[in-house]
Amino acid sequence: MSRATVQPFPPTPGSNVNFGAEVSNVDIDNLRDGDFDVIRDALFTHQVLVIKNQGHVSARAQYEITKAFDPEAVGRYGHGKTIDAKRSVLHPDLKTIPHQPQVQVIGNGFVKEYEGLKNIHLKHPHHRSFHATVIPDQDDLVATRFYRWHIDAALYGLAPPVATTLMAVRVPGGRHQTVRYDDGSGDEKIVPLGTTAFVSGYSMYDNLSPEDQEFARTTRVEYAPHPYIWMSQAKSRSDGLGLVSEGKELALSDLPPVEWDKVQILPLCWTNPVTGKLALQVHPAAIRKLHLQDGSVLEDLEQVRDRIHRLQRPGIAPDLVYAHDWEEGDFVIFHNRGLLHSVVGAFAEDEVRIFRQCNIAGSKLPTGPQHVLA
Ligand SMILES: [Fe+2]
Repeated sequence: MSRATVQPFPPTPGSNVNFGAEVSNVDIDNLRDGDFDVIRDALFTHQVLVIKNQGHVSARAQYEITKAFDPEAVGRYGHGKTIDAKRSVLHPDLKTIPHQPQVQVIGNGFVKEYEGLKNIHLKHPHHRSFHATVIPDQDDLVATRFYRWHIDAALYGLAPPVATTLMAVRVPGGRHQTVRYDDGSGDEKIVPLGTTAFVSGYSMYDNLSPEDQEFARTTRVEYAPHPYIWMSQAKSRSDGLGLVSEGKELALSDLPPVEWDKVQILPLCWTNPVTGKLALQVHPAAIRKLHLQDGSVLEDLEQVRDRIHRLQRPGIAPDLVYAHDWEEGDFVIFHNRGLLHSVVGAFAEDEVRIFRQCNIAGSKLPTGPQHVLA
């Protein structure tokens, strides 16, 4: 019998975050009958679950619970083998565990041995490598950016994973940093060092005007083929929410051969399988075209990006961001089809951090409002 309890995050002064919960009285390595049903229901209700003191959990158990959210999935890592492509923007950030290849090691610094990986150099992504403008060097340890707001998804061939799990093995602690949006809004947010930031696709949709909601319900987005190679020369906006348009995307002729049946055209809004609510779910860096309700296709990349950014930007306002304060042993499960998330922060070289990440390519594409699917 399950003894799991689910406690929604308590309200925090100045925050309007309306998602997230802590799950207690479970051991991911030894789930009791009924535990997973509680966790599954909680995930689709609260979108982010934090389970403390799980540092002992095996990579196998992490894989198994991640896959359990999509039992029909075949069990491939969410990006398949595409992260092996040296030109992919994801390539430097992930090290695959040899005995459990759906689970990746991420983090910062030099690690002599972990999970069969030896003498690995982990590198926490730094906005300097991806943003069009950067925070001056002298502010680098006190100020930071949202690196890249995203959904964990290949967006080419493989369906987006339902859930991602993150386990904090080693966490350098103590400091805080200020996230600067640097977009003229004056927005800033103080966050714990190396936080993972989450925003709700449901709030993003709910807070739109009725006209924008109608647009979001009736429009589909076409993602670039091989999106992480296609974008590899392009740079991000300062808020981490999509790219600036400087014509740096790779030409189709410079990509690996494109199989056009793998290109994904997805609804802007994805339906929650338990609550039925709509989340505005768009990976802003990978978008290429918009398919509008009247059948026309918006192909001007700068206009496509501007339209999507206008819809998404209110949803990353400082009061809507949940910035998880990692402790060693934290096991976080998040609903990858209802949230956007971002790496945050800049570590010093000697600040060693080790995390394990797992997600599984979905068995089906996400569904949106019925009339868009015709
Ligand atoms: Fe991610």
